[in-house]
Amino acid sequence: MKFRTRLVAALSVTTAVTFGSAFGAVSVLVDSSEERELDDALHEAARDEVRALREVPGLELGAAAGPLGDDATPLERYVALYLGGRRASASAAFAAACADPPDLAVAHPHDVSCGAVRVRALVVAVPRRTDARLLVGVPRTNLEADALYLRRTLALALALAVGTATLVTTLLVRRLTRQHEAIAQTAHRVADGDLAARVETLSNDADVVALTRDVNHMISRVETLVTSQRRFVAHAAHELRSPLTALYGELQLASRKERSVEEYRSAIAEALNASRRLKTLTEELLVLARLGTQAQPESGDVGLRDVVDDAIAQIAQEAASKGVAVEVQAEPVVVRGRRGDLVRLVRNLIENAVAHSDPGLTVTVTVRQAGTDEAEVRVADEGSGVPEADRERIFEPFFRAAEDRERVGPGAGLGLAIAREIARTHAGELRLAPAAASGAVFVARLPRAPAPSTTEGSA
Ligand SMILES: Nc1ncnc2c1ncn2[C@@H]1O[C@H](COP(=O)(O)OP(=O)(O)OP(=O)(O)O)[C@@H](O)[C@H]1O
Ligand SMILES: [Mg+2]
Repeated sequence: MKFRTRLVAALSVTTAVTFGSAFGAVSVLVDSSEERELDDALHEAARDEVRALREVPGLELGAAAGPLGDDATPLERYVALYLGGRRASASAAFAAACADPPDLAVAHPHDVSCGAVRVRALVVAVPRRTDARLLVGVPRTNLEADALYLRRTLALALALAVGTATLVTTLLVRRLTRQHEAIAQTAHRVADGDLAARVETLSNDADVVALTRDVNHMISRVETLVTSQRRFVAHAAHELRSPLTALYGELQLASRKERSVEEYRSAIAEALNASRRLKTLTEELLVLARLGTQAQPESGDVGLRDVVDDAIAQIAQEAASKGVAVEVQAEPVVVRGRRGDLVRLVRNLIENAVAHSDPGLTVTVTVRQAGTDEAEVRVADEGSGVPEADRERIFEPFFRAAEDRERVGPGAGLGLAIAREIARTHAGELRLAPAAASGAVFVARLPRAPAPSTTEGSA
């Protein structure tokens, strides 16, 4: 059952029980109060009858009128006189309908049936006649009609109260839950793949408005993630296809007919080139995938100077063949991390700097402490720099500035994405410093390793 239906049902039942018991109590109170009034009237009527009896000679019932009813007309008179337990005389109404003999021993008012009429009866003694008993009765007709009227009115009021409570609760609950319903519907649409779905704000309640905003923000984030993931897969497939096509083409061409040794050698060299591209790309994709998961190798204390030296060693040949010098200015700074990943971070930055520097220019790598608990690696070149519009995009996987595709040569556009991800997994950051006069300056900031604790009393 829906929450809304359960809430309405619970509130309706509560209203029915509350009003039902209150109305029941009112009905019982009114009934017993009316009965008390009837009994008082009965005692009065009995006294009048006894008085009248004493005034009539020969102990006979007079022909007085019955007590007055609600409409001020006399009611039927139920009176009977018993002598020695046997009826001596009775009023016409009693004689016509009441059973004989009644229980003359009951001294308090009680109900007797006289045909279809229920009569409230009282048996009283007659002064100076010990064998005589006088039964006086008053029909309950008025009292029962009043009780029936009261019960019908209360039942109608109860039905109205429950109906109104159900209606008001339904409207109120619908109003209170419509925003949640809208959120649930949107969540279903998103789950079905509609990432353009957003929750409409239907409430003025600040909390609900904030919740709606948060849900919409979350959907936007999911949309961005899914879109970038799709773009990533499309780019990856595209990047993998080019070397694969080259490799396939070379092998197919070589195998079509008999070739000279030279031709074979050239085909193998081309195929090797394509394979190398494939291998590098696959490795980079794997690194990116690993960095995105929790499964990271153990970290330890790593000196940044050593990291820079290793990185430079890996691209020394490339830099030398291009005629670009790489200079290092390093303070002894230690960070906690994975040495292999940190070398990759710095190497990717230096590799880019060399690739974007003309022969004769210098790339400067600086390592220093930044503040009390951070270390900074800065890689600066004197090349063309990064266009303002591309400052953030260069960190996106597979992004390469249009001119780089022709001028700088092969590269998938994963170097900076990997470097930034490595900085992030080391609780640091990688950014491009504000535009310099010439060239580009990349700054990686990492938390420094805690200083080794000195043992008290050691020499
Ligand atoms: N030092 C730099 N100077 C100018 N532009 C740069 C520099 N470093 C990076 N870029 C720009 O950022 C883009 C992305 O760099 P990234 O290292 O991610 O990819 P790549 O070097 O093109 O390829 P890969 O590193 O995967 O071989 C480059 O294509 C280039 O346009
Ligand atoms: Mg690169």
